Amino acid sequence: MTQQREQWSSKLGFILAASGSAIGLGNIWKFPYIAGENGGAAFVFVYLICIAVIGLPVLVGEILMGRTTQRNPVGAFNRLSKGNPYWTALGGLGVVAGFVILSFYSVVAGWSLGYIVESMKGVFSTFTDASIANEHFGSLVGNPAWILGYHGLFFILTMVVVYLGVKDGIEKGSKIMMPILLFILLILVIRGLTLPGAEKGMDFLWNPDWTKISGESVLIALGHAFFTLSLGMGAMMTYGSYLSKKDNILNAATQVVFLDTLIAILAGIAIFTAVFATGQDPASGPGLIFQTLPVVFAKMPGGSIFAVLFFLLLTLAALTSAISLLEVVVAYFVDEKGWQRHKAVMTFGFATFLIGVPSALSFNLMSDFTIFGNTFFDAADYLASNILLPLGGFFIAIFVGWVWGIDKAIVELKNGAAEMIDGNPWLMTLWSIFLRFLSPILIFIVLLYKLGII
Ligand code: TRP
Repeated sequence: MTQQREQWSSKLGFILAASGSAIGLGNIWKFPYIAGENGGAAFVFVYLICIAVIGLPVLVGEILMGRTTQRNPVGAFNRLSKGNPYWTALGGLGVVAGFVILSFYSVVAGWSLGYIVESMKGVFSTFTDASIANEHFGSLVGNPAWILGYHGLFFILTMVVVYLGVKDGIEKGSKIMMPILLFILLILVIRGLTLPGAEKGMDFLWNPDWTKISGESVLIALGHAFFTLSLGMGAMMTYGSYLSKKDNILNAATQVVFLDTLIAILAGIAIFTAVFATGQDPASGPGLIFQTLPVVFAKMPGGSIFAVLFFLLLTLAALTSAISLLEVVVAYFVDEKGWQRHKAVMTFGFATFLIGVPSALSFNLMSDFTIFGNTFFDAADYLASNILLPLGGFFIAIFVGWVWGIDKAIVELKNGAAEMIDGNPWLMTLWSIFLRFLSPILIFIVLLYKLGII
């Protein structure tokens, strides 16, 4: 508690770090395939509405809670609820969610790291059809040493950045990695668009198929809006806690949402133009990146270079997200327990790595070990994505809208944004309606649905 708390050196630093958190496996791996499976442009349209109506309002709420209290999620709920133990415990749930998400997120990020090496070795050039790529993927993840090695290596990278601190680690790291990420993605988009047959991919992505929009796809869009913006467990709250009162949160949050959406759509373009141009199956679901794309690279002129670039892109995106997850846990121990940052990073980085071991082994040694019929990896993913995050989002909306109170929140929000808010009174009316009514109701429906109650 005696240590001086760090702050971002500028608003740009915050925007890059927060977009780094938001832009991750969710954008590059998940968004393209769920858009592909759920009606292309029609899904993108529904997704954009979810982002605007729920994502942005809750994001503003989270960042604001962090900035107001200058604390991690536990400290933030504790102060704003005046010490109420239930709300404080809810902040604790966010810290736990950080552990759980990071433990399996880093397994997939480890695959991406391993695939950089595979593509540098030129392995993919022999992948003439999908069955070879599937087999290769199966043999890699089936090997405990391979999967644990890269899981561990990815953890070390994550820990190094967080160890260096808010300004010198997270902010500086994001300032280097985010522009590289955008640059690589633009190269891949241009490569995709200039392949013969690219227009079929654009057609797939942009031609709305409204018949594919069902209740289910709306729920998928809503759930993804949460995951992709890193909402519901206090990651954005923690990043917000390093913001100064002079910064305009409304503005910063809008830019983060814009960047996150832009990257997801660019990734969709890069991937589907290449998938269609090389005659691969766009609807291969979660296997799209690790099984379909290697074949795409084998068939594409210059494919091996683009393969290295692609997996580098994916790894960087995952890394800037993973650091935000670890930072939540670290901030809690630094703020509330008075730990030194270095000690917290070493202890909880290693602990989270260990929790991730059974997730990594779910693909090989522990594939028969199940919890309610799911492997450890699937169970951790399910618990976090389908239960902890929506629950967290629901309570954050309720808390800011009703418990802390929208009027007090608006007073705080005006720090750095007074002109914008006073000049456009409708902004706060909308925020209030979305946060107090629309978001909780819609999230509640999603939660019931995901739990199989409706
Ligand atoms: N938003 C990241 C992605 O799209 C994942 C992520 C990072 C996340 N931090 C989070 C998700 C916190 C939920 C909560 O891949």
